[in-house]
Amino acid sequence: MHDIGSKPALRAELLANRAELSVDVRSAAGRSIRDALLGVPELEMAGTVAAYASIGSEPETHGLLFALWKRGTYVILPRLLPDGDLDWASYEGPDSLVPGPFGLLEPTERARGVDAIASADVVLVPALAVDRTGVRLGRGGGSYDRVLARVSPAVLTVALVYEGELLDALPVEPHDRRVRAAVTPDSGLHLLGDAN
Ligand SMILES: Nc1ncnc2c1ncn2[C@@H]1O[C@H](COP(=O)(O)OP(=O)(O)OP(=O)(O)O)[C@@H](O)[C@H]1O
Ligand SMILES: [Mg+2]
Repeated sequence: MHDIGSKPALRAELLANRAELSVDVRSAAGRSIRDALLGVPELEMAGTVAAYASIGSEPETHGLLFALWKRGTYVILPRLLPDGDLDWASYEGPDSLVPGPFGLLEPTERARGVDAIASADVVLVPALAVDRTGVRLGRGGGSYDRVLARVSPAVLTVALVYEGELLDALPVEPHDRRVRAAVTPDSGLHLLGDAN
């Protein structure tokens, strides 16, 4: 078990590893994750999926967003609020995204409010790493801890990570919210937590 104080060092190490990945590796990871997720029954049945537009060294999600949208899923994406919380608006194709703060790509459609996340049937979240119990390490804004607190425990929540980012144990604080699953490029969906 890592010490809580080691979160910043872990983030730096994980981001340094990601910085080594080529654009091709990021794209290939995105395609593999897209294909794995499109075949998950909960995603196939979902009316609404909350997701995010990848930036920088994250596994590429734009192909996944497009595929979900094309098959008729209602996709909502986050818009960063000044206090670090996330608002939500619908994805209406690749042209419906514009640059936001911190290099983010955000939806242009009408914002639905922070509670719109509660209408999602599946929630896909970014992470720098996730552990076998579902603890996730994000960028350090606490945004997704707030988001996940509004999501029913019955909803499938999935962190999208590279292969080596599914770890045995991560530091966890009382405010940290777990995800129920992780998806990796090579081995697809992993259910996390005590029951798995
Ligand atoms: N529900 C909340 N309301 C307000 N602040 C919060 C909440 N949850 C966490 N925070 C704050 O966010 C900060 C960062 O939290 P943490 O280190 O867990 O980030 P993270 O999980 O890596 O980031 P993110 O969720 O954005 O991916 C902490 O200082 C924490 O107090
Ligand atoms: Mg957290």
